[in-house]
Formats: sequence, structure tokens, C-alpha cells
Amino acid sequence: MNVLGIESSCDETGVALVRCEGPGVPRLLAQALHSQAEMHEAYGGVVPELASRDHIRRVLPLTRQVLAEAGLALGDLDLIAYTRGPGLAGALLVGAGVAVALAAALQRPTFGVHHLEGHLLSPFLADDAPEFPFVALLVSGGHTQLMRVDGVGRYELLGETVDDAAGEAFDKSAKLLGLGYPGGPALARLAAFGNAAAFELPRPLLHSGNLDFSFAGLKTAVMTRVQKLGDNVCDQSRADLAAATQEAIVDVLVAKSMRALKDTGLRRLVVAGGVGANAMLRETLDRQAARRGARVHYPPPALCTDNGAMIALAAALRWQHGLLVPEPDAAFDVHPRWPLEAVAVA
Ligand code: KG4
Ligand code: ZN
Repeated sequence: MNVLGIESSCDETGVALVRCEGPGVPRLLAQALHSQAEMHEAYGGVVPELASRDHIRRVLPLTRQVLAEAGLALGDLDLIAYTRGPGLAGALLVGAGVAVALAAALQRPTFGVHHLEGHLLSPFLADDAPEFPFVALLVSGGHTQLMRVDGVGRYELLGETVDDAAGEAFDKSAKLLGLGYPGGPALARLAAFGNAAAFELPRPLLHSGNLDFSFAGLKTAVMTRVQKLGDNVCDQSRADLAAATQEAIVDVLVAKSMRALKDTGLRRLVVAGGVGANAMLRETLDRQAARRGARVHYPPPALCTDNGAMIALAAALRWQHGLLVPEPDAAFDVHPRWPLEAVAVA
């Protein structure tokens, strides 16, 4: 069973091939990615119309590339998976349209994957794949959620952000500090030269007693600090503020993740989504989890941010578990807003 996965929900065109043989974890045969970050940088964020047009240009060449790398032909594909949502409507339609057209030509089934399910299951492509059940911390540009995961398709929401996502907090703070897009990696790089103790920033909802997050207040706090520093801000102050911002975000994510482990009694934490690439988050989670006898699992570094491999994998795992209902021929739509619980099985 060869599964093609197409990801086009935001600013990365990702295509990958996964093979499913027997009951083991499906194997990644090849993957290719084109990031639009450079194209959007001039605008300080993703321009949806430009994103859609670029996905159209990239998706078929990337598909040819992964087929060639895997030594397969189009006719060897058994299932075409694509990201159905959440994401930018026009961008999603590119991946969905290409997937459905390919499937119609090849007379193969299609399956629309939930983007967050892709992130959530991506650690299964790592060498030390986790076992169910586990707590998942999903931290991307648009989402911050803690889930209890009992198996493929068995997801229970434990808590989520009430306003901005953690990635958004990184991106917006980076923008205030005059850093490029995407801001998360840039802010993390600058933070390495800073002293986090130089600025006191809020840790929203840290002691709320539940597993919800809030990051909008942090962004406002960063804004007032930047305004106070004025136009003549020195490089050291910017680095200090970057370090303080990163520490505030990491503190909250780590504290809530530890609380989720405690509340559920589980000893495995899976971290997925772009912010999961953050080195300080990883070090702090590893250290604190070890203290309570828990382990943290991450996707391979290249699969933390958006990619086609996680989409092909999610479809393959669903198929393995009998949870994949092939879609009717050429009938598709995308879901720009789509809660993960909508694809959970009872
Ligand atoms: O999962 P992802 O690639 O796309 C979405 O589904 O949103 O996540 C992108 C987010 C962006 O907000 C980006 O700034 C953040 O992940 N990010 C990071 C790092 N790498 C990516 N944030 C902090 N530190 C990083 N090293
Ligand atoms: Zn994502």
C-alpha cells in the first residue's frame, strides 16, 4: 500500500510517499518540501493569494520528485491523501484539487486528512516512536492544544488557547522586535544572546488551575516594552527582550504539559507542531519530564513544521486501523476551520 500525502494548508508545499506493509509503523519512502517563507517575508506574514498560486506551481514537480526518489510510478500509488483543513481555504483547495484529479485519473481513492492529526502522529516517524496512550502538546502557528491520545483517532481535548497560539506569540513578538518572518526561529536565535532576567513578562493563565492557555497579553506586554525602549534600542536590549519572551512562552507550555501528565497519570508526552522545534522548549520539557519519570517524544527535526510525510502517515495509520473511509469520486471540500475532535472516533 503506497500512500501519497499532499500538504498545502499554509506556506509550505509538502509531498511525501509512505508505504504500509503489515501491522508495523508505515515507512517513509521519500519526501519533498518547498517553503514559501522567503516569498512572504517581504509582507511580514503569509499572503493567502500568493500562497495558493505558489502551491499550484510546486505541487506536481514535488510529486514527480518523490516518485523518482522512491523509484515508483504514478500507477504504483494506492491512495492519495491531502490536507482537508484547517488552514487557508485557497491553499487547501490546491492540494485537494490536485489530489482528487490525480485520484480520478488513476482510479484510486482519496482521503482528506486533518492537519493537526498529521502533526499529532508525526512522532511515529521517529526512531523511538511513542506508544499509546500519551499526552500531546500541539504547538503550531495557529494552534496550542493539549490532548489525551489513546490511539489512532482517539483524541480528547484537555485544554487549548483562548486567544493567540504559542507560534503566533513567537511570530508577533518577533515582528515587534523587527525580526523577519517566520518569527519563531529568528526570535529563538536572537534569544541565545540575551538575558531573560532583564525583563519581567507575564505568564498568562499559569495558575489558572486548568489546562487552557492565553498568549494575547504577552504580546501586548512585549509591545509596551518595545515602545518604552524607543527608536534607539540597542542590540543587547532586543536580545534580552527576545530571551524573556521565549522564556515566558516556554514556562507556560512546560507547566501546563506537566500538569496534563499529572492530571491524566500518563508518563508519555508527545510534542508536535512548528514550535516543537524550539530548543529551549525541548530542553526544559525533557528535564522536567525526567524528574517525574516521564518521557518526551518529538517528530524527527525536519518533520516538526508542516510537511507531506505527516499527511501520508496519518492516512496510512487510519487505513491500518480501519478508520479510513474512502471519499466518493471527485466530491471534495476543504475545512478552513475544523476542530480535531471532529475526526475523533468515539
Ligand atoms: O506547524 P507549523 O509549521 O505551521 C502551522 O501549522 O502553523 O508551525 C509554524 C510555527 C510558526 O509560528 C513558527 O514561528 C513556529 O512554528 N516555529 C518556532 C520555531 N520553529 C518554528 N517557534 C519557536 N522556535 C522555533 N525554533
Ligand atoms: Zn502545522
